[in-house]
Amino acid sequence: MNGDFTYCNPTKLYFGKNAMEGLNKELPKYGKNVLLVYGGGSIKRNGVYEQVIAALRANGKEIFEDAGVMPNPTIEKVYEGVARARAAKADLILAVGGGSVCDYAKAVSVSVHCDEEIWEKYFLRFEDVSCEVVPVGCVLTMVGTGSEMNGGSVITNHKEKLKIGHVFGENVYPKFSVLNPEFTFTLPKYQMISGIYDIMSHILEQYFSGTDDNTSDYIAEGLLRSLIHSAEIAAENPRDYEARSNIMWTATWALNTLIAKGKSEDWMVHMLGQAVGAHTDATHGMTLSAVTMPYYRFLLPYGTAKFARYAVNVWDVDPAGKTQTETAREGLCRMEAWMKKLGLVMNLTDLGATREMLDGMVQSTLIMEGGYKVMTAQEIRAVLEASF
Ligand code: NZQ
Ligand code: ZN
Repeated sequence: MNGDFTYCNPTKLYFGKNAMEGLNKELPKYGKNVLLVYGGGSIKRNGVYEQVIAALRANGKEIFEDAGVMPNPTIEKVYEGVARARAAKADLILAVGGGSVCDYAKAVSVSVHCDEEIWEKYFLRFEDVSCEVVPVGCVLTMVGTGSEMNGGSVITNHKEKLKIGHVFGENVYPKFSVLNPEFTFTLPKYQMISGIYDIMSHILEQYFSGTDDNTSDYIAEGLLRSLIHSAEIAAENPRDYEARSNIMWTATWALNTLIAKGKSEDWMVHMLGQAVGAHTDATHGMTLSAVTMPYYRFLLPYGTAKFARYAVNVWDVDPAGKTQTETAREGLCRMEAWMKKLGLVMNLTDLGATREMLDGMVQSTLIMEGGYKVMTAQEIRAVLEASF
């Protein structure tokens, strides 16, 4: 394990078919005014909304609603949420939905008592929170981002063509999250597999970096094997509880800081995907799948040993009689075949991107320095071009 680190994850999880009982245990801990945050209405169609309202009423809460959080939430919507939270004097922000709703709730939570310009402070200057944070709780309905147990908040600014994530500290993590896998059964297949790929990408972003022997990488390989197995079952039968519950639990552990401990990380697939998202507003997981293969084929020569290990330990490639590069390449071929079988988007055209957007997408790509190769603008352009 490289370096010194502290590990603490303060989010309390309630998991399983009866997870909503956890909401009744948590609500008494907070004041009367609850800002109930949700998206475009899926929770009203699948019955989750009624269950949440019943719990809030049973606990004597004053309910203030903030609906219409869009996928890839915008900074304008955050400003609106801040005004609502201030008017409500919110004691708790309860996010009911997917990563977008949870991320949005966190962005509002750190802004209610902040006098500064929040886009600039948090998303351009990446400053820490210097004001009181309104507590956030979460009832998760879409699996993928890990937002239910982390400090991540990804906000889109369409005017500036930027989609940027701020990873806040433990004081901003949800205080509790309710994870009932059955709440995810109504997700359209496109969203389900997008979420599955988001999970895989989170694990790989933390895996493809470093040459040290690190426990985090062994945990990552186990999570990947579980995800690959359960994804195939869920794609065939989305109502398979065992598979969907495994995927939900894997998502949480994929991005709650555990597998990043004691090692370096890459995150360039997300930086490329977020640039694509800033220009197309496409579904997050699909922006990642569309750029993955060109990016990893570009990266492979710089991290061949790790790609070969990935091929053997995750994709069961037999290395006998092969060079390290051949083994590594075969692993990526197996991954690509699995992605296609699952139905993931494999090119940018299918996400509404055009070649005219290329220059803009290159400019919108933040360059990270933790992986096997620090990319140049030309390399970013080449990878994006190969993704069409
Ligand atoms: O808005 P509603 O009507 O609720 O519909 C949503 C939305 O259209 C729908 N949905 C959610 N649960 C459903 C459901 N439909 C039917 N049944 C259900 N049970 O699914 C659609 C997508 O929801 P969204 O929350 O946008 O998806 P996701 O969870 O993938 O979140 C994406 C956002 O999270 C960010 C992404 O960039 C993107 O903005 N990320 C957050 C991260 C973090 N906090 O750490 C890390 C990730 O890498 C990611 O960047
Ligand atoms: Zn992601």
